[in-house]
Amino acid sequence: MIVAGCDIGSLSAKAVFMEGDTIIGSGVMRAGIHPAESAKQVMKLVADNAGLSLTNIGRVVATGYGKEMIPFADAMESEIVCHATGAFWNQPEVRTVIDIGGQDAKAIRMDEHGKIIRYLYNDKCASGTGRFLEVMGEALEVKLEEMGKISGQSTEKITISNQCVIFAETEVVSLVNEGKPIPDILCGLHHAMASRVASLALSIGVEDRVIMTGGVAKNSGLFAALSTSLKKTLHPMKDIDPQITGALGAALIASRMGGK
Ligand SMILES: Nc1ncnc2c1ncn2[C@@H]1O[C@H](COP(=O)(O)OP(=O)(O)OP(=O)(O)O)[C@@H](O)[C@H]1O
Ligand SMILES: [Mg+2]
Repeated sequence: MIVAGCDIGSLSAKAVFMEGDTIIGSGVMRAGIHPAESAKQVMKLVADNAGLSLTNIGRVVATGYGKEMIPFADAMESEIVCHATGAFWNQPEVRTVIDIGGQDAKAIRMDEHGKIIRYLYNDKCASGTGRFLEVMGEALEVKLEEMGKISGQSTEKITISNQCVIFAETEVVSLVNEGKPIPDILCGLHHAMASRVASLALSIGVEDRVIMTGGVAKNSGLFAALSTSLKKTLHPMKDIDPQITGALGAALIASRMGGK
C-alpha cells in the first residue's frame, strides 16, 4: 500500500509518499494561509512528480501546525513524534533531535528504541526560528539559500545584542550603514540564534548522536554555529532533505498503522 505523510508547518507544506520501506516521492512548498489548500497542493505536487493519482494513496497521516485542518487525513500525529520517528528511521543511533522550523524550535531526546524521553519547544518568540533568519535575509538582501555560504566568508566576529526580531533588524541595518561586511553580520546572527536554540536543547540534555531537522538545517552557517554552541558534532539527515523529516515520520506512522 502507498501511504503519505503530510506536514503543514507554519511556513511550508511538505509531503512524503512511501511504499513499504521506500520513499517514492516527496515535495516542499511555501504554505498559504489555508492549511487544507496547502495540503491539497503539496500532495498533488508529489503525486504528479511520482506519476501517481491521489486515489492511489491508501492512508494519510497529518502533522504540523495545520494538521487538524486537513480533511483527507486518516490520522494525526504531533510534530515532536513525527520528527523523532523520521530521524530515528534515518539514523537509529540518534538520541537527540533539534528541529528548527519557521515558527518554533524543538529539542527531543529519545532512547535506543526511538522512544521519546523528553522534549521542549519554544514557540513564544521568533528569535530562535527560521522566520528570524528570513527577516534578516530580507533586511540584508540575501537569499535564504545563500545565507550559509555568505556567512562562511566572515573574517571578523560581530555580536548581535538584540534578541527581539524587530530590534535585531534595526541593529542589522545600522551595522550595514556603519560599513560592516554582510558576511560578518550574518555570521553574528547565526551565532546569536544558535546560542538561543542551544540553551533550549541543553536544558533537556543533549546526548549523541544529535541530528538537526527542519528547513533551517539547510542553512550551513546556522548548522555550524549550532554545533559550536552545543559543543557537539551535529549530524545532518542522511540522503534526505531535512525539511521533510516530519512528513517522513508521518508517512512511517501511516505505514505502521494496521488495518484498512
Ligand atoms: N534552502 C534553504 N536554505 C536555508 N534555509 C532554508 C531553506 N529553505 C528553508 N529554509 C529555512 O527553513 C525555514 C522553514 O522551515 P520548515 O519548513 O521546517 O518550517 P515549518 O515546518 O513550516 O515551521 P514550524 O515547524 O515552525 O511550524 C525557513 O524559515 C527558512 O529559515
Ligand atoms: Mg515544522
